[in-house]
Parts: sequence; C-alpha cells; structure tokens
Amino acid sequence: MSRKKELLTLMNIDTSWLKTNYITENNQQSFHDLRLEANNCQKCQLAYDRNNVVFGKGNEKADIFIIGEAPGKEEDLTGEPFIGRAGKLLTEILFSMNLSRDDVYITNTVKCRPPENRNPNSEEISSCSNFLDKQISLISPKVIILLGKIAAERILNTSEPMSFLRTKIHYYKDTAIPTLVFYHPAYLLRSPGEKKKVWEDILFMRENINVS
Ligand code: URA
Repeated sequence: MSRKKELLTLMNIDTSWLKTNYITENNQQSFHDLRLEANNCQKCQLAYDRNNVVFGKGNEKADIFIIGEAPGKEEDLTGEPFIGRAGKLLTEILFSMNLSRDDVYITNTVKCRPPENRNPNSEEISSCSNFLDKQISLISPKVIILLGKIAAERILNTSEPMSFLRTKIHYYKDTAIPTLVFYHPAYLLRSPGEKKKVWEDILFMRENINVS
C-alpha cells in the first residue's frame, strides 16, 4: 500500500478513487514477458531489417510516460530509445522540467526502425499497438506525453494538426490519464524557430498537471 493510501485509510477516508501507480511483482513479471515477446516479434516487415527491438527505457514505476515515433539509426544499433540528436534535446527538455531520464519512461509508437527513417505505416503501427497499450497499462502513469504527430495520431485517434492538439488536455482512451501533445524534438531541431514553443508546452503541463 502506498504511504498516501495508508494515511488516508488511517483517517477513514475513502481511497477507492486513488490511482495505484506502483507495479505488483506479478506485473513486473508481465513487463519482462512483454519485452521478451517484443524482442521476438515478427508481426510486420520491420522485423526483417532491425538490429534491435527498441522496447523502451526508464523507470517502470514512472508517473510520466513519453511516447515518440520510431527508433532511428542509433536507437536501432543500441536498442535504446532517443539517444541520437533528438534524444539529447529530449534530455535537455526533461532537465528543464527538473526531471532526468530515470524519472520517466520513454518508448516509441513502433519498436523497430523503419528503413531510411521514413514514417511508420498504418500496418506497422497497428502491429505494435498491443505492446504500447500493455506498457501503458503496466506502468499506469499519471500523465502521458506524446511527442509529435505519429504518436498523437496513434494514441488520440485523430488527424488534427499539431498546432491544434498541443496545450490541451486529452485523455488516453477511456481512462482518466491526462495526455499532452508536445512537438517532437526532431522537428524542433529542423525548425529551431519553433523551439520556444516547447517552453509553452512545459508551462502548460506545469500549470495543469500535478505529478508530484
Ligand atoms: N525519434 C523517435 O521518435 N524515437 C527515437 O527513439 C529516436 C528518435
């Protein structure tokens, strides 16, 4: 039982509304099994060219769950998400939020690298959707951050433009998990003039989401 739940129970306060954000031993096992399943996945054509499945990395009890697009070359070679240039910018963005990569969980919409870094297609996205949904359910985060259009389209089932989706609170499926859309760090690297918008995204999150 969490400390918060323990205290509320002692005060005879109903705790049924409290979201548990810890993983039981059983779930830990499931997370391990899910990773193994992903490592052996052959559901789409991306399986045939990959060096590594990039399952995800970070704190498996994180309050903040971050979803990017797909692994790039360096991620494919190492099996770790967001370690190239976009990853370095993501680390800086997290730092400015007083967070380190170990405080959050980072993964992608698809777990294998699309050739030439093209966008993943709908078949690849749906082949991977089970892994992503199970990761979210096992981690049970307090907030989800979607980096860029591919993650936003997949999770929010929308084709609205980024400019419309950001600085709004969405919800993951039929849960109460608030879900925010940020510009993708790779887009910010390509369009440095837009970098200031990430500060608006961070500020919006700080003012509207309580993850303490
Ligand atoms: N871009 C992504 O969306 N994910 C990565 O892991 C790296 C770059």
